[in-house]
Amino acid sequence: MIRPTVTLAYAQTLDGRIAARDGSSRWISGAESLARTHQLRASHDAIMVGIGTVLHDDPRLTVRLATGRDPLRVVIDRTLRTPPTAAVLRDGAGVGTWVVCAENASLAQRDTLRATGATLITVPEDANQHLDLLATLQLLAQRGISSVMLEGGSRLITSMLTAQLIDRVAITVAPKLLGTGVAVFGDIGIQTMDHALQLHNPVYTPCGPDIWIEAEVRYAH
Ligand SMILES: NC(=O)c1ccc[n+]([C@@H]2O[C@H](COP(=O)([O-])OP(=O)(O)OC[C@H]3O[C@@H](n4cnc5c(N)ncnc54)[C@H](OP(=O)(O)O)[C@@H]3O)[C@@H](O)[C@H]2O)c1
Repeated sequence: MIRPTVTLAYAQTLDGRIAARDGSSRWISGAESLARTHQLRASHDAIMVGIGTVLHDDPRLTVRLATGRDPLRVVIDRTLRTPPTAAVLRDGAGVGTWVVCAENASLAQRDTLRATGATLITVPEDANQHLDLLATLQLLAQRGISSVMLEGGSRLITSMLTAQLIDRVAITVAPKLLGTGVAVFGDIGIQTMDHALQLHNPVYTPCGPDIWIEAEVRYAH
């Protein structure tokens, strides 16, 4: 069954952190990279984030620093912890937001979120009590979504990469250091250097003080 193509986009410090120890990530990248991120948003059908990112950062996930239409917003939220006051739902934003939850998620919370205009989608859970991400992408494809920009956070990115569901990356590297903080990837099942995931056709573009790196992800098997 078909799924949308997925571009992973995030901003990291030079030492590979996507957030500080306290979870804050605003702002790792500079103004030029942020504008480029908004351009990238406008070229995708949907933006996807995990519930952790909604709760931590309360992003709007709209196109404001570039011209173009707002993509659909998709929040991966198994137990429906998204508050109806979240920026992706409030002030009419809900009509452009789909919240993906488990089949046993609270019916009352579904009604609360639907009242903001949001669309609720249920998908099965996998053996780790995570939402089945391939099933999620296939449902999006069935509903006409052919490209997804995955914008975080760490846990969702790790699951998506482990499931080999990321096709391209657009990584902003900012000349900042954080030391301890949130790493972009957790365990993606690689034990040894020979098995490192190789990115192909990388393009490195200076972007204000940052470097913007685009590349293709190809899985060995
Ligand atoms: N620098 C950047 O570009 C950037 C961008 C975005 C976020 N961030 C940072 O990332 C941090 C948030 O990351 P996070 O890891 O806490 O949250 P996250 O990845 O946004 O969301 C993770 C949550 O999604 C739910 N989920 C459902 N199905 C899943 C699956 N198959 N795999 C993984 N998660 C699934 C789980 O919640 P349930 O237990 O409810 O199922 C999980 O705890 C924040 O500090 C934020 O600032 C940085």
